[in-house]
Amino acid sequence: MSEQHNQHVAIPAGRTVEGLGLPAAEDPLTRRALLAGAAVVGGWITLPSLASAQNSPESPSAPPPTTQPDGSTPAAAPAVVNAGAVSPDGMYALPPLPYDYADLEPYLDAQTVKLHHDVHHLGYVNGANAALAELARIREAGGDTIRQVRAATDALQFNLSGHLLHTMYWSNMRRNGGGPPGAETAIGRLMRRDFGSYEAFAGQFQAAAAQVQGSGWAILGYETVARRLVVLQVEKQQNSSVWVVPLLGCDVWEHAYYLKYQNRRSDYVRAFMNVVNWDDVDARLRSAEPQR
Ligand SMILES: [Fe+2]
Repeated sequence: MSEQHNQHVAIPAGRTVEGLGLPAAEDPLTRRALLAGAAVVGGWITLPSLASAQNSPESPSAPPPTTQPDGSTPAAAPAVVNAGAVSPDGMYALPPLPYDYADLEPYLDAQTVKLHHDVHHLGYVNGANAALAELARIREAGGDTIRQVRAATDALQFNLSGHLLHTMYWSNMRRNGGGPPGAETAIGRLMRRDFGSYEAFAGQFQAAAAQVQGSGWAILGYETVARRLVVLQVEKQQNSSVWVVPLLGCDVWEHAYYLKYQNRRSDYVRAFMNVVNWDDVDARLRSAEPQR
């Protein structure tokens, strides 16, 4: 498997990703070409990102930007998302942090980032690979062992959700991030349409994160039927909604903030808003563009 196939974006299985009313992708990739590198995991289809597919050996080289009928130039291809989350042999892998442990200071402390990434996230990676191996063993053995499917499936849901959400979480952040997204980016325009303003979105998102019962996530997602942005509360992490494309996630498990913020989750959530990488969120949204 080529390196390009390590770069995936997840969309709900069985869903047709419809348009956003946003600038069309400039590369005339067909959905069939994209699906050539797809895999179904835990109710999600992982597709090579648009950027990686454009550069794949099977695809023609991306044409130079051309002028649209309205005189505008097409938007640049989305940046790669989820790079390094799958190894060349198809096993899940711990993607390297896209920054140093201390780069998110003072909002997220280096020790928490290191433990969170190197220990907790790695645990989900190993758990997801082990669950897949166990399911393969169960299928092979058949017979009475099929009764073990539930436990192995639970393990896969928990660990794979953890792996994919944390992969997004790390790239959702950067040093000197935060503030509103660019006004003319895809995420900026859709945010204005669906929430009214960045401030209105941020208020709802932070409240959702602070009020998740127990451990879990606040997710800004793209709902692919009505084609709108929604903010969700995901209790635990395996109780993910499979009908949205996740774009931005704030991890509110205690391991994400306890060393610096102790029980003050709201302070952590407020700090998180200062490191949001809107370029990554925008890339994830644009990867859900129609592939027609
Ligand atoms: Fe976490």
